[in-house]
Amino acid sequence: MRLDRRAVVGGALALSACSRGEGAAQASAPLGEDPTYPTAAGHAAAAPPVGAAEVPALRRLAPFPVGTALLTTQLDEPAAAALAAKQFSQITAGFEMKMEVTVKDDGGLDFTRGDRIAAYARQNGQRLHGHTLIWYAEEPKAFKALDGKPDFAAAHDRYIQAVMARWPAASWDVVNEPIMEQGEGLRECLWSRNLGAEAYIDRAFRIARAADPKPVLFMNEYFLETKPKKRATFMALIERLLKRGVPIGGIGNQSHLSIDVAPGLAKAAMKDLASLGLPIHVSELDCSTYGHGLDLRSREDKLKAEARVYGEVMEAFMALPERQRFAFTLWQPRDKDSWLRSAPGGHPDDSPAAFDDDGRPKPAFYALTNALKRRA
Ligand code: XIL
Repeated sequence: MRLDRRAVVGGALALSACSRGEGAAQASAPLGEDPTYPTAAGHAAAAPPVGAAEVPALRRLAPFPVGTALLTTQLDEPAAAALAAKQFSQITAGFEMKMEVTVKDDGGLDFTRGDRIAAYARQNGQRLHGHTLIWYAEEPKAFKALDGKPDFAAAHDRYIQAVMARWPAASWDVVNEPIMEQGEGLRECLWSRNLGAEAYIDRAFRIARAADPKPVLFMNEYFLETKPKKRATFMALIERLLKRGVPIGGIGNQSHLSIDVAPGLAKAAMKDLASLGLPIHVSELDCSTYGHGLDLRSREDKLKAEARVYGEVMEAFMALPERQRFAFTLWQPRDKDSWLRSAPGGHPDDSPAAFDDDGRPKPAFYALTNALKRRA
């Protein structure tokens, strides 16, 4: 799904460390249920103070990496940078490792912003997840200039090699969002036009594997919970790729959800996807508090509905065999960081994240910690 500050491409938004103090607090804290707020006393009153030692850290509770997506603007904000360092053990660049930033109009490469995110992850002992190499929504000028020309394939290959050599990610979203919105088939794009309808996917994975044998290579897709036809088309594609020996190593289930996603859908999707046997990355979890149409629920009820969704996704993930739990990533740490707020078609008061604007844990956060404590 492409939704950015500049434009909505491909349709409107369809969703509608280890500090001593923290360690000591954890050791003495009972593994009971965490509180869920707001209570009758209200949101702010019941929330633990920012940075309070009693807020558990996802990265310490989870027996698998828990990630978030970051922008360099958040690295400049000490509160955001500290929150992400405390809570998360894996980092994805929200958009600064994408072609829109890395490929200059003259075909040169710009790695400065991605370098900062990679350095942050290294400094905080976090695994880096690369996002993303080939995406239909990215059609940089320099590649468009090669459209239909014999040099296109070589330039494509060189791009993948250069980016993978630059950032030592443990994993990469090699191809992002290859399936059409309703699951009708594969998307057509600059890449498919030049390299073949499905062959472009094979090529990206094979070039990535040859460039570096270590990272786990992912195919990443959205709306796999709510659109069964899309999921079926996606899974059939992966089966064909595996049969042809394409080195795909994992499935990215983005999980951009909303509070109106019916109970059970996220669990069913996770189980179905896992039937292919590959590791699963819940790669971009967020939950819009705007569902379908007019919604008269109170903010408190909406945050409870959101917590239910977060809890279900974590429970579904924890039910996977251990070898299939690659990582669990939240798309942006705080509500105010969310892409769903600033985009056209989005809502400036949407609250899709596990932490509020001030970095305080929301009920969604405690739904995650409670699920982790129950199943770990
Ligand atoms: C979004 C980012 O969050 C924004 O900052 C950016 O401007 C647009 O893209 N699916 C994806 C992500 O794979 O790359 C998208 O991220 C969200 C949907």
